Amino acid sequence: MFGAYCLHVGADLSIGQVTDSGNIRCAFHGWEYDGGSGRCAYLPSGDPVPPRASLYRFPAVERYGIVFAFNGLEPRFSIPDFDHPEDSLVLRSGTFPDRFSVDSWVSRFMGHLREHP
Ligand code: FES
Repeated sequence: MFGAYCLHVGADLSIGQVTDSGNIRCAFHGWEYDGGSGRCAYLPSGDPVPPRASLYRFPAVERYGIVFAFNGLEPRFSIPDFDHPEDSLVLRSGTFPDRFSVDSWVSRFMGHLREHP
């Protein structure tokens, strides 16, 4: 899972597109990032690709039908296990009226949750 914002001037890459070759193309000015590595792969201006231009890759795990991303270099703990088989869990989504403390795996992935210090 890569960072969501283009390295050029910060456009939201989710409104871009995935090219036939698997690159992620920014909707604003067309910078492309390799879909496997996150490295900048193409500039429509023809300028050389900045050698260190690469999207940040978040440590990520898929569990319970959800992709969890950790906001850091290395996860400090694992996704918690449930006492029931994964295929017996029912996922529901919703919004929460108040802020409350949650662990970093969840708070960084679900934008509508906020973590108290
Ligand atoms: S903001 Fe993405 S290419 Fe310019």
